[in-house]
Amino acid sequence: MEKNTLLTMAKEARSKAYAPYSGFAVGAALLCENGRIYCGCNVESASYSPTVCAERVAFFRAIAEGERRFVAIAIAGAKIGEQPIKPCPPCGVCRQVMREFCDGDFAVLLCNGENGYEEHTLDSLLPLGFSL
Ligand code: THU
Repeated sequence: MEKNTLLTMAKEARSKAYAPYSGFAVGAALLCENGRIYCGCNVESASYSPTVCAERVAFFRAIAEGERRFVAIAIAGAKIGEQPIKPCPPCGVCRQVMREFCDGDFAVLLCNGENGYEEHTLDSLLPLGFSL
């Protein structure tokens, strides 16, 4: 899987974001070990706390389909109407969800321009992560 393909899919998923309260649209594309890809966008709520991030939507779609082994996630975020030129790092809750299902070398690709991205590992984003 070409990393640029995953980033393109994250940007495409971003166009589906439901974010009328924050005005900030995020898309994510999650690559499984078997090559399948699950996408997600953020989904907000008028009562705010039910809001779910794009990353968790992608993970939970995949988990609900029986997937358990993951390689990488691409993330693209920016204000609605703007291009995702600055990296949108996953929130702490999403990092903990990644920790639940992924090894430390799980790759997190952050879109930072039309063809650009920066790459991190889950270990670097969540050092000393809690797991049972
Ligand atoms: N959001 C995501 O979907 N992913 C992130 O990595 C950070 C934040 C969403 C949640 C909310 O709908 C909006 O962005 C503003 O916080």
